[in-house]
Formats: sequence, structure tokens, C-alpha cells
Amino acid sequence: MAYAAFRSIGAYVPQKVLTNNDLAEMVDTSDEWIYKRTGIKERRIAAKEEKTSDMGTKAAELAIERSGVPREDIDLVVCGTISPDYFNMPATATIISNNLGLNSPMAFDMSAACTGFIYSLSIAKAFVESGMKKNVLVVGAEKLSAITDFTDRGTCILFGDGAGAAVISATENKEEAIIDIHTAADGAYADLLMTPNGGSGSQHDALESEAAGCYMQMKGNETFKIAVRTLTKDVKEILAHNNIESDSIKHFVPHQANLRIIKAVGDALKMKKEQVVLTVEKYGNTSGASIPMAINDIYEKGELKAGELMLLDAFGGGLTWGSALVPFSPLKK
Ligand code: UT7
Repeated sequence: MAYAAFRSIGAYVPQKVLTNNDLAEMVDTSDEWIYKRTGIKERRIAAKEEKTSDMGTKAAELAIERSGVPREDIDLVVCGTISPDYFNMPATATIISNNLGLNSPMAFDMSAACTGFIYSLSIAKAFVESGMKKNVLVVGAEKLSAITDFTDRGTCILFGDGAGAAVISATENKEEAIIDIHTAADGAYADLLMTPNGGSGSQHDALESEAAGCYMQMKGNETFKIAVRTLTKDVKEILAHNNIESDSIKHFVPHQANLRIIKAVGDALKMKKEQVVLTVEKYGNTSGASIPMAINDIYEKGELKAGELMLLDAFGGGLTWGSALVPFSPLKK
């Protein structure tokens, strides 16, 4: 049987920095409020002409180069995103694939909001383990600034832009394999986080109100409470199910939504400070891109070594959530 190995990571962040003080000039908020309630100091904003696929392509270039897998051998591209280049078609994954000059692999987008990377990882694992695909490029890329209402202080303080990517390859060595991935959803809470218009559920009013409805809306406090409760339960379950103690986790890489959510879940697992990977302060919440961007952060600091075990968790619109136990298994040592 083939197993799925997490071979490499790459990421890209746009140059423009939007600080809390910049936001305080746009809406009624302050650096102090944002930092205290979210742990965020600044976030990156893509250039006007920079698309989600452009950022995803840059992250993927790095991931492929670092993987040692020839690009013509990539046979599946999955892009987790809620800010695709185009709402309905073509999928951002097909554009990324073309930008990279790949050999016409299967390519599609994954709509699971902030859980997009973990969902995509589970697709990669399933395709590789079934023998249908051998080398999967998993991308998480978001231009959330394109769907953010910069007059709504309840959402615009949280989100930022960026991309991350990973290459998942078949291996016969079980030691290298992704151990387990949990994924779940509950559409009963769909209205907590949504872009109400632009789809078949739209009210199809005047074009102007239609466009405004394409921005994200969030019931932040309710989402926060469900996130803490659900994630704590989910990560405890995935550890127990696999007989793994939290002190065996070298890197806990949570979705970077809000420092208070990360702390609550980390504390429930008795994670030590040095186990928890944090990028929320400098990048904010980049939805489907946040986990691969955070993994890349420790990789580029030289803190992620071959064989080290990562615990990933995410929670987002849908509602969706998930967790994954992933050893880092590069081909190139
Ligand atoms: O990533 C996917 C899933 N998303 C999440 O997990 C996000 C979860 N939610 C959150 O991170 C938090 O709910 C927020 C950061 C969005 C909001 O923090 P909160 O502690 O839940 O605040 P709140 O919504 O309960 O609001 C508390 C007060 C309110 O004022 P009153 O009614 O008490 O007078 C808000 O109007 O804070 C006010 N407020 C603000 N004040 C200054 C809300 N946003 C702001 C703001 N600046 N940006």
C-alpha cells in the first residue's frame, strides 16, 4: 500500500503591510483593542493586480523546488481558497497549474474556508493512498482583502493575504506517512461566517448591493466560542485515537485566527510555549493559507527538521473544522 508523505513547504507574502494603526484611521478601532482581542499587529495586503493564483503560484514554486519532485510528475493540484480569482470558474488551481507549466494534472479548488488546507491535505492523502495519484501539490492561497468590507470593524481587523503550498508524495515507508486527518462540518451554522451574495442563494437585487454582499460577514463572538469548544474536542480526539501524547508533538500549528483561540486550545492540550507556532501577530488570519504559511515560517527559521511531528488544526466558515498529525518527511535531507 502507498502512504502519503508531506515532502516540502513554501509560502509567499505580499509586500504591503497594513498595521492596526492604519486600520484605526479607517474604522472606529485601536491598536490596543485589536492586539488585546486578537494578538494581531499587522497583516499583508496584495497589490491590486496581484491575484490569489499569483500568490499561490509563488508559494508552489518554492514547495516544488524544495520537494525534489520533478514538476512534470505532479498529477493533482488542490487549492484551498475562499477568494478564488473568479467566483465560479475557472478554478484557481487550474490557473496555478498553468502558471507552473505542469503536465495537465487534475486541478480543482477546495471550498472549506479556514479549514481549506486541512481538507485539501485529506484529499491528497486519500488520492495517494488509493494509488490514483502520486504527487499532489496542495495550495492554500487567499486574497481576503478582495472580499473584506473595510468599513466593518468586526471583520476587517482580522484578515490578511498570502499563500502557502506543500508537496505530498507516495511512499512505501510508513514511518514517513501522514498519520491521520480529521475533517468535519456543520452547515447548521452556515450563517455565522458567509459571503451572502454572488451565488445562487443571492437575492439578486441591484448590482451595487449584490457586490457589497460578496464581502465576508461574521458573527465573531459566537464563532469564537464554537471554535474553542470544537477545536479542543477535535485535537484531543485525534491524539487519543492515535495514542499520541501532546508532548510528542514537536510543532503545534493551529490556524492563525485569533491568539486567544490558539491559547485556549493549546492550554487545554497542555502545550508548552515552544511547541506552539504563531504567525498571527504579523500576518493576521489568512484563512486557508494560514497553516502552510505558519509551517513555512518555522521551516525558513531552520526549526522544522525531518521526522518531526506536527499537529495541525483549523476551524472556519461552513462551519468546517479539522486536525491532522503530520510528520515532516522531506526527500532532500
Ligand atoms: O478564522 C475563521 C473563524 N473565525 C474566527 O475564529 C474568528 C472568531 N472571532 C474573533 O476572533 C472575535 O470574536 C473578534 C476578534 C472578531 C471579536 O472579539 P470579541 O472579543 O468576540 O468581541 P465582541 O464581538 O464580543 O465585541 C465586544 C465589543 C463590542 O462592543 P460593546 O457591544 O461591548 O460595546 C463590539 O462592538 O467590542 C466591540 N468591537 C470593537 N471595538 C473596537 C468589535 N470589534 C471592534 C474593533 N475595535 N475592531
